[in-house]
Amino acid sequence: MESLKEKVVIITGAGSGIGQAAAVQFAAAGSKVVVADFSEKGGAETLQLISDAGGEAVFVKTDVSDSASVQAMVAKAVETYGRLDCAFNNAGVGGVSAPLHEYDEKVYDHTVAVDQKGVFLCMKYELQQFLKQGGKGSIVNMASTAGLDATPNMVAYSASKHAVVGMTKTAAIEYAEKGIRVNAICPGAIETPGLTQGEFAQFLDQYRANQPMKRFGTPQEVANAALWLCSDAASLITGVPLPTDGGLTAK
Ligand SMILES: NC(=O)c1ccc[n+]([C@@H]2O[C@H](COP(=O)([O-])OP(=O)(O)OC[C@H]3O[C@@H](n4cnc5c(N)ncnc54)[C@H](O)[C@@H]3O)[C@@H](O)[C@H]2O)c1
Repeated sequence: MESLKEKVVIITGAGSGIGQAAAVQFAAAGSKVVVADFSEKGGAETLQLISDAGGEAVFVKTDVSDSASVQAMVAKAVETYGRLDCAFNNAGVGGVSAPLHEYDEKVYDHTVAVDQKGVFLCMKYELQQFLKQGGKGSIVNMASTAGLDATPNMVAYSASKHAVVGMTKTAAIEYAEKGIRVNAICPGAIETPGLTQGEFAQFLDQYRANQPMKRFGTPQEVANAALWLCSDAASLITGVPLPTDGGLTAK
């Protein structure tokens, strides 16, 4: 994608799964990538993948639920590459699988802190930088099909992802006149460590059977949508929660 060449992009949660795939693809498109993740190991792995392919990237250890950490992330992008053009606010956690009346309050708070407040904080400081530069810019927030429809036994995740869709639409309208676009992507079940190695691995067969395509999406397929939304090819698209779900929400 020609319009992503030389663009400076922050990707949170870029040390694994969808964020890592997006970081590799943005770098391949010629973008300068700020790999932001809580995990130093994951961040180092992503940097290696990008440098092996001849791309440009820097790692910044970031906790998206912490305001000072997010401010430092944006500052690092500007200090390293001089500006900020795009952001993919992708970092997230799944919480646990439990019915609402038994859902652990601490897990609820943590999930909301990362998945919901994290997106708010990232947008807040990214938008400040866009405005400082005179406007223009593109943000893609990571929601989920859980931000569009009911997701039984995942109340904290569902609440957070619905909030991401709401914040995305609100920010899109607030900054449309400034030339800043804000969209969200809503993946279905995507084959990442986040899905296959954690709390939800026990449901993999059930999830797969529920997919219209009878397969999981790949991180690369979701990253494709994030790149397109950031690129000039999507210049008229803002305020959209885009399902990247193989038809799951069309059922
Ligand atoms: N995999 C799926 O099926 C699926 C579906 C819909 C939406 N999503 C969303 O996509 C995003 C990425 O998911 P994934 O499946 O690639 O997960 P993953 O677990 O493979 O990767 C998530 C990354 O986020 C990082 N992270 C977690 N908490 C963080 C924090 N507080 N600050 C900074 N980084 C943090 C982790 O270290 C990890 O590298 C998440 O927001 C998730 O909710 C995933």
